[in-house]
Amino acid sequence: MDNSSLTSRVGIGYDSHRLIEGRPLIIGGVTIPFDKGLYGHSDGDVLLHAIGDAVCGAAGLPDIGQLFPDTAPQWKDADSWQLLHDIAEHAKAAGWQVGNVDAVLIAEQPKIAPHVPQMRSRIAAALEIDVGQVNVRGKTAEKLGPVGAGEGMEAHAVCLLYALITA
Ligand code: CDP
Ligand code: ZN
Repeated sequence: MDNSSLTSRVGIGYDSHRLIEGRPLIIGGVTIPFDKGLYGHSDGDVLLHAIGDAVCGAAGLPDIGQLFPDTAPQWKDADSWQLLHDIAEHAKAAGWQVGNVDAVLIAEQPKIAPHVPQMRSRIAAALEIDVGQVNVRGKTAEKLGPVGAGEGMEAHAVCLLYALITA
């Protein structure tokens, strides 16, 4: 028997973005045909931002807004997939491996279900894990509140990180 032990940490992430005309809709690293897109300094990918914050939370890293400030010109229209990949590299450098990610996107329209397989594989690639370690689903807000009125979208995510510590 060896002396290694498993330690794990869970993290939570949340994000919201307004929907405006004249922007492409990018969710989970996938461009989805729609008449509006998510407003933001970056590409506005609300789902990847929530997942990034969940990874940061679990790893004890600063949040995504501190790592990639929206006042800094180099993050203007930034590819959120690349930001998530960078966060994963930070977590890995600190000794963590991703156990799994689970995420919920809240949007009245459009239906994301047809795009979920592609989102899962994009997220898995950013985190350098298997697609089976990533789950994503869409929910409507049942017409309640601003998200229910189609003014924006929200996302929630959890991430489990683990590390093997050898004594
Ligand atoms: O039936 P329930 O209230 O639980 O869910 P809903 O919010 O009415 O959404 C019904 C189903 O539509 C979900 O289970 C998803 O599979 C799908 N959905 C989606 O693909 N994209 C969305 N933006 C919202 C819902
Ligand atoms: Zn965001």
